[in-house]
Amino acid sequence: MAKLNWGMIGGGDGSQIGPAHRLGALADGHFNLVAGAFDHRPREGREFAMRMGVATDRAYGDWKEMLEGERKRADRIDLVTVATPNSTHYEITRAFLEAGFHVLCEKPMTMTVEEGEDITRIAERTGRICAVNYCYSAYPMIRQARAMVRNGDIGKVRLVVTNFSHGHHGDATDANNPRVRWRYDPAMAGVSGQFADCGIHALHMASFICDDEVEKLSADFASTIPSRELEDDAMVNFRLSKGTVGRLWTSSVAIGRQHGFDIQVFGETGGLRWHSEQPNQLIYTPVGGRTQIMEKGEGGLYDDARRLSRVAIAHPEGFPMAVANIYCDLADAIRGETRDGLPLAAAGVRSMAAVHAAVASAKAGGTWVDARPPMFR
Ligand code: NAI
Repeated sequence: MAKLNWGMIGGGDGSQIGPAHRLGALADGHFNLVAGAFDHRPREGREFAMRMGVATDRAYGDWKEMLEGERKRADRIDLVTVATPNSTHYEITRAFLEAGFHVLCEKPMTMTVEEGEDITRIAERTGRICAVNYCYSAYPMIRQARAMVRNGDIGKVRLVVTNFSHGHHGDATDANNPRVRWRYDPAMAGVSGQFADCGIHALHMASFICDDEVEKLSADFASTIPSRELEDDAMVNFRLSKGTVGRLWTSSVAIGRQHGFDIQVFGETGGLRWHSEQPNQLIYTPVGGRTQIMEKGEGGLYDDARRLSRVAIAHPEGFPMAVANIYCDLADAIRGETRDGLPLAAAGVRSMAAVHAAVASAKAGGTWVDARPPMFR
């Protein structure tokens, strides 16, 4: 099978998420990296592209140049990844979809619900794939958890409880460091800080495993470091459309928690527990029975969990390989196969609606707010 042509915007030298995309996209032989506008500084971006093996004429200075260059080539890229800062996602994703490219956009997909709905509609109209990098949902044992819920292994889900809380912005003496400060500044980050940054991964995961959508929520936001305009801690209660009760805590001042993303799903006949720092394991307890540790790579897992694991049992694959699983599903989808685990623009706009609902709720003292985008009401 011919490899697909892939390009990247953002994710340049020293960026946080860029390496995970390159490791992920190139891991399974589906894609060749052939084009890129990797940096907000044109010269650095071109130099970095060439260091990554991109030909000189496809090492672009900026994304507009890349769009023009790629759209007229016979061997144009099949997929572009947008891994730039949040406020640029909408403009770039929209332009590439309109020009007929498939897109993998980093989260959050947009800054507003309206932009999210626009992207969803453009993807529908053009028939192009717009995926969003909710990569945690592509860990094999998360796919296992979702398959277990779908197959009724824990019965109807009563409760889902999730946390994405770390302590890396908990040092008040570092709060003015520009790399930290922008995340709590509405001019740079938008309407929400920690909830839009990490909370939406947890909320997406809750919907993903429960195979249901968030309907309404009530939020309490706090800026525990007083100079911060946006929240660095949030507690969000939510309900899924089939009645599941949801609880979510997200924080960036939880000193001592490193990555701090975990989820528990409690059904009528069993419970499941997963932690991102031990992603190979899914803990399963049937009602009245013993707790069992299920391992990535063991026999008897559901197909989606087996398909997305490469190395033998007890060998960690980790975060970049979860991103690789998104690229596997994307490659299959581009080649015409259905991959219903792939997070698409609809998931991106649902997150945006939840962010804006949480902000409105927190401002109104925690009142319950409809968290669905208007297009899905
Ligand atoms: P970063 O600040 O570490 O890197 C951003 C990169 O984009 C830099 O190389 C910069 O030069 C480049 N860039 C900025 N503006 C550009 C433009 N207009 N054109 C081309 N390149 C440009 O940022 P980080 O942490 O890598 O985040 C990037 C995106 O990835 C954000 O939207 C963030 O929310 C998301 N992210 C997602 C994660 C996930 O788990 N899915 C984890 C970390 C970040």
